Amino acid sequence: MTVGSDCIQPHPIQELLSGNLNSNPGQQFLQQIIDNSYDSIFVTDKYGNVLLASIGTGIFMGYERTEDMIGKNVKEHVKDGIYDWSPTIEAIKSRSVVSGIVRNKNGVQEMATSKPLIDEHGEIVMVITNARDTKLVDDYIAALEKERSTVHRYKTAVEYLSDVDAGNKEIVAESPQMKKIIKTCNFIAKADSTVMLIGETGTGKEVMARYIHRHSLRSKEPFIPVNCAAIPQELLESEFFGYVRGAFTGANPHGKPGLFEIADKGTLFLDEIAELPMAMQSKLLRVIESGEVQRLGDTNIYHANVRFIAATNRDLKAMISQKLFRSDLYYRLNVIPINIPTLRDRPEDILAFAHKFLGELNRKYALKKQFSSQATQSLFNYNWPGNVRELRNVIERLVMTSMGDILNFEEDSLVSRKTRLDCEPRPQEGDRAYEGTLKSVLKSVEEEYISQVLRECGGRMGEAARRLGIHRTMLYRKLNNK
Ligand SMILES: Nc1ncnc2c1ncn2[C@@H]1O[C@H](COP(=O)(O)OP(=O)(O)OP(=O)(O)O)[C@@H](O)[C@H]1O
Ligand SMILES: [Mg+2]
Repeated sequence: MTVGSDCIQPHPIQELLSGNLNSNPGQQFLQQIIDNSYDSIFVTDKYGNVLLASIGTGIFMGYERTEDMIGKNVKEHVKDGIYDWSPTIEAIKSRSVVSGIVRNKNGVQEMATSKPLIDEHGEIVMVITNARDTKLVDDYIAALEKERSTVHRYKTAVEYLSDVDAGNKEIVAESPQMKKIIKTCNFIAKADSTVMLIGETGTGKEVMARYIHRHSLRSKEPFIPVNCAAIPQELLESEFFGYVRGAFTGANPHGKPGLFEIADKGTLFLDEIAELPMAMQSKLLRVIESGEVQRLGDTNIYHANVRFIAATNRDLKAMISQKLFRSDLYYRLNVIPINIPTLRDRPEDILAFAHKFLGELNRKYALKKQFSSQATQSLFNYNWPGNVRELRNVIERLVMTSMGDILNFEEDSLVSRKTRLDCEPRPQEGDRAYEGTLKSVLKSVEEEYISQVLRECGGRMGEAARRLGIHRTMLYRKLNNK
């Protein structure tokens, strides 16, 4: 039944739309356009009589043919139970856009919007309604949510990585000990076994952990370093496991991915593992053994695909006997232990590092500084309690505070802290006037030449010894001033 058609003259557009489909090529085009639209579309007059409808609309409403719904009033559709309510009716009543979820007699839900078209006299000319399956909308929202959580995961990863010096990837390994370690790391990098790096502060544990990750099959995935000593105890669990939204007051309203999640498919570097409290140690052990992770406040469990590398400068065995470290976690982490020797135990690396760091600073600040033979000997003889980190800092300070191009240690810096070297302050090289006995002059010349060759060899002792035509041990002896 058509409502109101006999009271008022139809608008010319309405006449056009309700005319014989085949009589007007423009109308055929219009029909084709709406039939091919992704949404269901239908148009009514100001009383709700359907003038035009796309194929999809007819099927959604339960008609066999779309033509069957033409001329029918939307109020009848509701009355016949074809769908539960009509946004078209509401749009006519309110003379404004109305949106909502409409459910048809088969239980399918559509997100529908009805927009009245009003002419210059304030009259409704027609109402255009379009509808889209809510499943599509839901799928879209779910996809968006998934994307958002991935972005959130990356954002958190970036926060973790932002304060890390990942720039310099060149590893110094001149000493036989370090060469052996690099060989081992190249080999074990490809496996997923847990690695335990043991060494004094500043020996390069993090450098080695990154090296292993870079050479592993996970190298394209995140490397997440965590300093276990730096996370406040009360936050440890939420940092490691994350939480869902609304898990506790003060939490991020969007929830937060934990470290296991952030490092998924990658490597989690547990630095200063000895500082982890016992309670957290058992939770970590459970994750390493089962791979199962649950965010705080979440009912879902997911599988963490993470490779663990731990590091410590403490004696974990002693801590176990003092009941400060769990032995089961120790054995689980200690699958491949790697001991990184102190710098004083691998003297071949000292000058190689020194020249590498000096080269970096020279390049950075466009300088041409060189070590004097006094500096070379001082560096070689100092015992480096802070290891490579201290060496890097000492060289930076030396470069930044020295005026000329030849670097010498002042009395109050490295020389005053030296343990074995007893060296005299020397005049600047270049403007040296030799004096004293022939023996002392020859010694000075020898030291300068050794320093020059070491510089040319980038601090590599083996190569320098070859160039000097002396045995490596002889070079050591000379540098030790013996
Ligand atoms: N083999 C290496 N090649 C190049 N640089 C290195 C090497 N070993 C250490 N370094 C440098 O020395 C410094 C200290 O290294 P790293 O942070 O890895 O030490 P660490 O053992 O983790 O120290 P800590 O126990 O204090 O955390 C860094 O600046 C690093 O770049
Ligand atoms: Mg470290």
